[in-house]
Amino acid sequence: MIRPVSHVAAMSPYALAQLDPPAGQRLVSLSQNESLRPPSPLIAQAVAEAAANGHLYPDPDWTALCARLAELHDLPEQGLLCGNGSMELIAGLAQAFAGPDAAVLAPANAYPFFRTVAQLARARFDTAAEVDGCVSFDALLAAVQPDTRLVFVANPGNPTGTRISRRDLLRLREGLRENTLLVIDEAYGEFADDLNEPMFDLVARGDTVVLRTLSKAYGLAGFRVGWGLFPPQIAVQIRKVMNPNNVSVCGQAAALAALNDQDYMHETCDLTAELRDRFADRLRSAGFDVPKSHTNFLLIRFADQSTATGADKALREKGIFLRPQSGAGLANCLRATIGQTADLELMAAVLDRWAEEFQP
Ligand SMILES: Cc1ncc(COP(=O)(O)O)c(C=O)c1O
Repeated sequence: MIRPVSHVAAMSPYALAQLDPPAGQRLVSLSQNESLRPPSPLIAQAVAEAAANGHLYPDPDWTALCARLAELHDLPEQGLLCGNGSMELIAGLAQAFAGPDAAVLAPANAYPFFRTVAQLARARFDTAAEVDGCVSFDALLAAVQPDTRLVFVANPGNPTGTRISRRDLLRLREGLRENTLLVIDEAYGEFADDLNEPMFDLVARGDTVVLRTLSKAYGLAGFRVGWGLFPPQIAVQIRKVMNPNNVSVCGQAAALAALNDQDYMHETCDLTAELRDRFADRLRSAGFDVPKSHTNFLLIRFADQSTATGADKALREKGIFLRPQSGAGLANCLRATIGQTADLELMAAVLDRWAEEFQP
């Protein structure tokens, strides 16, 4: 018998959204935090031109992309890495800095991929309780163990949508040992940039990484381009475990063109925020518990798991797919990506009807 290594055999496959609408129903996916609109129209020509170089390996140093990122965010180019999505960078961090003799720590209701990469690295995965649906720097510091090597915090958080302040992140960093690497995952950072609390300056300390992605605000989820600012000595180690040709020629061209259309990205964030806040208010006024979100999605909290499952079933029967959140320790919650207005209207109408029928 051909056997996998034991820690892989013990793992479950990473749970992606299950999108199987009833026969004849149009699929409405509000389940993967994709952008509400396609990427900037500027990328079409850039991708077509890049496709002509499809017989060549991509630039392994993402030179043009890093230069533009450095310029846009006022960052040093040294220490910038691009990933095949930020997932590749998250996985690389665990592979290079955690292991069987180390623990990875994250908030209890964090992005489930942090757990997956800890398992892949054969590291123990510890969690710290969140308070009022928000990451608590006090709880994280209290959960630190002598072998905690890596701490992941998504800010804003997925699936909570909430964020912690720069002040609290600074307190967290100050409270961690200097041999513990703090990773601040800002996959939804562009949706909160108006708060003007950038964290990139922490990277210069040598013990902190800040990650971003073009999958969300730039609408490039299908192209798979993430990036991060790493202390140079950390970046050297991560590169050893990454695919050396990780971002395709079309991915790099699309990302550069998208970065060159900042107006479009800001417009996407504004449209998303306007719809998000409008539907949050609408759901709240219908009696749903919806925390303030700083992202492109809303979390809907139900009384318990069976109530959430009932609402999810009513939505699925109409072809509408939100994302159940048991994987993030929130089995009483559904997460709704901010999509097209008509799809959100449909979701709200189905939830209204369901609530009239089933909510006490
Ligand atoms: C918090 C967080 N980090 C990282 C990612 C991964 O994004 P990417 O598409 O860049 O791999 C996601 C995707 O949903 C996310 O929610």
